[in-house]
Amino acid sequence: MIGRGQVKFRDIVKMHGEFAALKGVNFDIEPGEFFALLGPSGSGKSTTLRILAGLDAPTAGHVFIDDKDVTSTDARDRDIAMVFQSYALYPHMTVAENIAFPLEMARLPKASIGPAVQDAARKVKIEHLLDRKPGQLSGGQQQRCALARAIVRKARLFLLDEPLSNLDAKLRLETRAELKKLQRSLGVTAVYVTHDQEEAMTLADRMAVFMAGEIQQVGTPAEVFTQPNSIDIAGFIGNPPMNLVPAHYTNGDIIVAGRRLKTAADLAGEREVIAGLRPSALRISPDGLNARVDLVEDLGDTAVLDLNCSGTTMRMRVGDHDVPREGDTICVTARPQDIHLFDPTTRKRL
Ligand SMILES: Nc1ncnc2c1ncn2[C@@H]1O[C@H](COP(=O)(O)OP(=O)(O)O)[C@@H](O)[C@H]1O
Ligand SMILES: [Mg+2]
Repeated sequence: MIGRGQVKFRDIVKMHGEFAALKGVNFDIEPGEFFALLGPSGSGKSTTLRILAGLDAPTAGHVFIDDKDVTSTDARDRDIAMVFQSYALYPHMTVAENIAFPLEMARLPKASIGPAVQDAARKVKIEHLLDRKPGQLSGGQQQRCALARAIVRKARLFLLDEPLSNLDAKLRLETRAELKKLQRSLGVTAVYVTHDQEEAMTLADRMAVFMAGEIQQVGTPAEVFTQPNSIDIAGFIGNPPMNLVPAHYTNGDIIVAGRRLKTAADLAGEREVIAGLRPSALRISPDGLNARVDLVEDLGDTAVLDLNCSGTTMRMRVGDHDVPREGDTICVTARPQDIHLFDPTTRKRL
């Protein structure tokens, strides 16, 4: 049977001496999915990818690819293609030789290698560069060469570790869009490591959010954005990130910065909470929190305001009209369904 690229991680632990880089990681990836591993630096994303590739062995737990336990299978026998942040091209070989390399290693017949290299180069639009050496290419072209070398093998799993982070901002956006189209057209499963939440939000069908060696949430970008299940995720996703302010909950309302706001929550009694309000969820209104505008960051089509609400600082995103001025006092509120509540002790969503 031809592999379909389904992945299962079961209770994967990775120790470096006393330090747990992964503390029991579980997830499932469906065939053909674009799955992102998102999290801050050092949270265990690359370790996870290396274990999936077979470049590192887990201390405990099992990895399944297409329902086969591959935990002790050699990297070479896992049918996986990988692209790293550093493109790892061979400098003395031409682009064509670099792309052909995995096929030479697999001892494919010479006659079939040429057309396969042409085909892969065409898919990433570098057919005109096949005779150059990597040193004669721009960063973006080197990245495409690395991609071509990965797709030439028609592997069932495509692993990418921060592949766009060496590109400048404009090229990164262009390549991001092309990468998504490429993955769709190849129909492969892609596992994509990034610390950039915007990249994960735009590319992924689903994502796993890593924090300190654990997955805190798995879901579609929309699910993670609209229902973050912890304070840490709420503060990590969104730009600018969600405002997280101490508040007192009582009978469906919160008291924050001395004012009462209605929430959609239905918790019993009274308690202290952390209220989460996205900068884009705050609106100017006749009543609500009094806020002094400390700073206006004009981004062209929107502006981000730094607000001081009786000592509580919050950020707010507004459209390009009716932008208040620094020093103005305004009144802001949020719709009940846009107010997230978290437990200050467990840091989990309430
Ligand atoms: N060989 C190693 N020895 C000791 N610690 C390591 C080793 N490799 C990774 N780590 C640690 O494991 C943690 C997770 O690393 P990594 O998976 O590379 O994070 P990420 O890719 O999310 O930035 C980090 O704290 C890192 O310092
Ligand atoms: Mg990494």
